[in-house]
Amino acid sequence: MIEPGGYIRDLLAGPAPRAAEARGWVKTRRDGKGVHFVQLNDGSCFQDLQVVMEAGAIPAETLRQVTTGACIRAAGDLTPSPGAGQAVELRAREIEVYGGADPASYPLQKKGHTLEFLREIAHLRTRSNTFGAVFRVRNALAFAIHRFFQERGFLYVHTPVISASDAEGAGAMFQVTTLDLMNLPRSNGGIDFTQDFFGRKTFLTVSGQLEAEIFALAFSNVYTFGPTFRAENSNTPRHLAEFWMIEPEVAFCDLDGNRRLAEEFLKYIIAFVLDRCAADLEFFNKRIDSTVLATLAHVAGSDFEHVSYTEAVRMLERARDGGRAFEFPVGWGMDLQSEHERYLTEEVFRKPVIVTDYPAEIKAFYMRLNDDGRTVRAMDVLAPRIGEIIGGSQREERYDVLLDKIRRHGLPEQDYWWYLELRKYGTAPHAGFGLGFERMMMYLTGMKNIRDVIPFPRTPGSAAF
Ligand code: 4AD
Ligand code: MG
Repeated sequence: MIEPGGYIRDLLAGPAPRAAEARGWVKTRRDGKGVHFVQLNDGSCFQDLQVVMEAGAIPAETLRQVTTGACIRAAGDLTPSPGAGQAVELRAREIEVYGGADPASYPLQKKGHTLEFLREIAHLRTRSNTFGAVFRVRNALAFAIHRFFQERGFLYVHTPVISASDAEGAGAMFQVTTLDLMNLPRSNGGIDFTQDFFGRKTFLTVSGQLEAEIFALAFSNVYTFGPTFRAENSNTPRHLAEFWMIEPEVAFCDLDGNRRLAEEFLKYIIAFVLDRCAADLEFFNKRIDSTVLATLAHVAGSDFEHVSYTEAVRMLERARDGGRAFEFPVGWGMDLQSEHERYLTEEVFRKPVIVTDYPAEIKAFYMRLNDDGRTVRAMDVLAPRIGEIIGGSQREERYDVLLDKIRRHGLPEQDYWWYLELRKYGTAPHAGFGLGFERMMMYLTGMKNIRDVIPFPRTPGSAAF
């Protein structure tokens, strides 16, 4: 019988000497006189288990197959290790090779590989030190997020992946259809989508927010955590076509409450991952970005800054007039570009900053209009190195104002009938935000390309694996 469990993590932490067994993939092998050392990893922790094989104890034919990349079972005695670098080691009495890996062709050799090369072997990069650490952090981060909201009584709601409305009103959607593209049904000179699978045009969702609002106006505090899709042609290190988003939606909450929730949330998940993934973060700090640990500790322990959009633009204008060069123009009414966001958070404040009250024209239709009639209760949380990590707002809960905004944004009113009806029956002030899961991963790990913090990245022109 082969049973699961018996993680290398537990062997490394447990008592020795004792009889023990380990299963995993060979990272490296080193040969001494009549004795061979293998670094074995099963993904359960950053550290490998050293397996010591004596030529007399293990058949030569078996030993020959124990090479980098091979999957083996090693059984023997776990003993205190005389060597440096590990507290215990496994002295093998028996080795079973589940699957060999021809050293002549196995692509993951000991020498360092570029992240670009590893992206091309996404089926094997999971066994490298870097991606082992990335995906353990990703797992811990997901758990931290659920824990934060569950501890506070939020209801986890599963919003649909296939959607008929554009939640952001930005038109960057992937269409979902089963129509025969070579033979499209026509009516009145256009395509007849009543013959499509759902009897209408449908898309992959860009956000679960609008559906989350339905739930917040019944369950008070809710959150979504699911995949979202954007067909924007942004080939940057910070954009994916398929990414994961966490969207809390909170009834009886205004923008100030939303801002506080976002800050508490980010600090909580940082502290959790710092605690849970210490060895992995140590690795990122040593090999990827030497500022990661200090930055995270600093952020977890200090207050975020808060400025209005209007103040932020003034700061940028002053910097520009003082000789700071920006590629894109700055001025009231223009959206903040990534370079502007990074200037504010990296050079002015040197910590996360929350910018609020943006011009209505550059933000989505659902954000609550301020009394000045030209700004909305929007907030973006900007983080050093990343720029925008969270986008959110207080929602427009007044029927007439919302209807007017949908029309001004040129959106098809009939698609939003239920969203409007929520404002007709038992409306309430409410607010929420969306955290880009992969942006948060970049922040935690110091990884510079968003393609390297998601198992299988989808970007323009690329959907391998
Ligand atoms: O600012 P966004 O577009 O906001 C929304 O979708 C709202 N419905 C959220 C809400 O209020 N419930 O996206 C939220 C976050 C961004 O701040 C960013 O971190 C991330 O999602 N994001 C992306 N991450 C990776 N690739 C992309 N193409 C992204 N677009 C947005
Ligand atoms: Mg945004």
